[in-house]
Amino acid sequence: MSEESTTASVGSGFISGLRASGNGLLVRVSAIAAIGGLLFGYDTGVISGALLYIKGDLHAGSLAQEWIVSSLLLGAILGAIASGYLADAISRKWTKVISGTVYVIGALGCAFAVNIPMLIGFRFVLGLSVGTASFVAPLYISECAPPKVRGGLVSFNQLAVTVGILLSYLVNFAFKDVTDNWRWMLGVAVIPGAALAIGMLTVPHTPRWLMQRGREDEARGVLKRLRGTDPDADIEGEIEEIKEANRTEGSSTVRDLLKPKIRPLLWVGIGLAVFQQFVGVNTVIYYAPTILSDTGLTKSSSITQTVFVGVTNVVFTVIAVLLLDRIGRRKLLLGGTIGLTVSLLLIAVYFTTPYLQQNAPYLALVALLIYIASFAVGLGPVFWLMISEIFPTGIRSKAMSVSTVANWGANFIVAATFLSLGNLITRQGTFYLYAALGIAAVIFFAAKVPETKDRSLEDIQRELTGVADPERES
Ligand code: BGC
Repeated sequence: MSEESTTASVGSGFISGLRASGNGLLVRVSAIAAIGGLLFGYDTGVISGALLYIKGDLHAGSLAQEWIVSSLLLGAILGAIASGYLADAISRKWTKVISGTVYVIGALGCAFAVNIPMLIGFRFVLGLSVGTASFVAPLYISECAPPKVRGGLVSFNQLAVTVGILLSYLVNFAFKDVTDNWRWMLGVAVIPGAALAIGMLTVPHTPRWLMQRGREDEARGVLKRLRGTDPDADIEGEIEEIKEANRTEGSSTVRDLLKPKIRPLLWVGIGLAVFQQFVGVNTVIYYAPTILSDTGLTKSSSITQTVFVGVTNVVFTVIAVLLLDRIGRRKLLLGGTIGLTVSLLLIAVYFTTPYLQQNAPYLALVALLIYIASFAVGLGPVFWLMISEIFPTGIRSKAMSVSTVANWGANFIVAATFLSLGNLITRQGTFYLYAALGIAAVIFFAAKVPETKDRSLEDIQRELTGVADPERES
């Protein structure tokens, strides 16, 4: 199986590849794994609308609001770290069952929270589940999918995240005029959580995990079921490859990440992770209704307009999925990051200019839409895709987990400081700061991020480290 083929089918070939390669089980496995992405997205988005009402109901000031948003992220950092161990120790499957169950507990706890500390506590519990899902969902998918749709499924997971965000906006919209609305908004999440926990009980362990446990016959059986009638299936070839990957990975440790030849790869992963958050994407996701209501809109119409942000995010992620293997990751990444930087400047200028606020109130929404579209075609999917492509097999899951933790950590820093930064350097000052970080991101990406489309891993690693197999040579 060539490395190029792992991503070659994202886009138009993705659906037909998925159809050709399964007997229904793979489609079911993918759909259930996508619920993991949904949870990630739903929780990210739901708080934006709920916060408008929690503020008044529980008397939450700026600091309390920041903690309500960001306690989930602290939980997610911990969840992403713990899931690396859990996924090996108790299996990917059971880690996901637990993630769904914890999610249900967290959602119920939030819905029935009687005060701010209780809400913050249960948002932390939700975070444990979301952080776990963000790491284990792509891992589970990549270990079940045949090479020809594996790349597509990785980006498909990002699509599920954006659908989750959109769903949360729609739920916010549906409940906006109901009594105890924010409790419903947070509580409805019980449904996808339960669907994940129950759904995961019905799917098999991944072949890779079974092989790690020495259960080769079972692994072969699962692979046969997953490949169904796929004419390209090579069960024994895959078993051999898993053996080889397990052998190299088994001997690598977290300290190997610091080897001189691996370090440059890790910096690219961490750079993508941190910039993905430092351009402020989640301030838009979390605070879009707040930003819009600052432009003079009522709470209710801010929530309505936020739905446009969610739809744009989904639509442009679909476009990215279709384009990533045609025009390449780098062009989308650079073009998208330039686009979002320009729109950040536009938002900042809007908040600086009273004339615009009075005469062009829709400019803020337009700028937000350009921003989210630019993020969705580039940095959104490209970060998650790249971290599954740039690391050598033996060190990949550890390096991916470090990049995932860096992403949640940066997400936390941005969320925990957005409102305070607004008080300190004004709202427009904050957006100027994100724009400056956008410019830094463009420079970093242009200098450091390679094109990975249609290239083998060895080739990519040679460009980044100067050697073809950094694991062996360092
Ligand atoms: C990011 C999330 C963000 C989402 C928005 C993801 O790639 O990791 O932090 O909320 O995109 O669509």
